[in-house]
Amino acid sequence: MSKTYLITGASEGIGLEVARLAVASGGAVLMVARDAVRLQAAADTLTGPIRPRIAAVDLADAAALESFIAGLDAKGELPDVLVNNAGHGASGAFVAADWAKLDAMLRLNMNALARLSHWAARGMKARGSGSIVNLSAAVATRPTPYFAAYAASKAFVTNLSIALHSELKAHGVAVSAIHPPAVRTGFGAADKADLKSTLVHKLFPTVGPVTVARAVLLAAERGRRSVVVGPVAGIVMGTAPILPRGFDLAFMTLLFKGNRAAG
Ligand SMILES: NC(=O)c1ccc[n+]([C@@H]2O[C@H](COP(=O)([O-])OP(=O)(O)OC[C@H]3O[C@@H](n4cnc5c(N)ncnc54)[C@H](OP(=O)(O)O)[C@@H]3O)[C@@H](O)[C@H]2O)c1
Repeated sequence: MSKTYLITGASEGIGLEVARLAVASGGAVLMVARDAVRLQAAADTLTGPIRPRIAAVDLADAAALESFIAGLDAKGELPDVLVNNAGHGASGAFVAADWAKLDAMLRLNMNALARLSHWAARGMKARGSGSIVNLSAAVATRPTPYFAAYAASKAFVTNLSIALHSELKAHGVAVSAIHPPAVRTGFGAADKADLKSTLVHKLFPTVGPVTVARAVLLAAERGRRSVVVGPVAGIVMGTAPILPRGFDLAFMTLLFKGNRAAG
């Protein structure tokens, strides 16, 4: 039996690679992102026995998200696997950031992910099966100056996912948090997280989006609670509890401040 997938942020980067693997494995995939044209073009590159479908939704818009969910409910569509992948980044001084952009990021990274998790988990619990995979980040365990709101939003994702895993596993529902290091996607571009001038971008080894996509699907298959992708993410997350906080904050500042003014 082919599995059904709902994958957010599926028009590029990690989400597109998750969709590519899911479609190739025979899955029936619903891909979500805002830009319908780019999303359809991305869907057209995927090959498998079942054509993927697309839905253009701005998940940071609460009303649009509710209407998307209502549409799925009306059709009785509940996926076997929900991948909450869509996410934005915002680097730079917190006070220098445009509030509308930060607000949209927080609504996407936290509210939309929590809303979709709540909707799917309810249905999956009633059905007795399902997987929810949430994209967090290796910085989720580190307060990160100059990437502060993003890292804090990923702390929310990790803590929510791990707690839900505990609440739901006895009901046949697995919730997984995925922790990639820096990934070679368009995420760090100037009009997105804007990481290009940072030392973390210049010095740290990255992983490819396919590596993360494989980890996502393996987590769903095995019902893993938390997945750390690769050795760099392992070091970032493993050292977080043992480093003196002052040293850690100075180190993270060095990595993420870049050549920007303090703001
Ligand atoms: N890349 C990294 O270094 C890295 C590291 C750790 C964790 N992560 C996490 O991994 C996830 C995917 O990252 P990525 O690098 O693949 O990102 P990406 O290449 O920038 O792709 C983001 C995807 O999300 C969609 N999206 C953005 N805003 C949206 C909205 N409001 N509503 C619906 N869809 C939206 C985009 O399409 P539209 O613009 O058309 O909406 C696109 O499909 C994110 O949660 C990110 O935080 C990334």
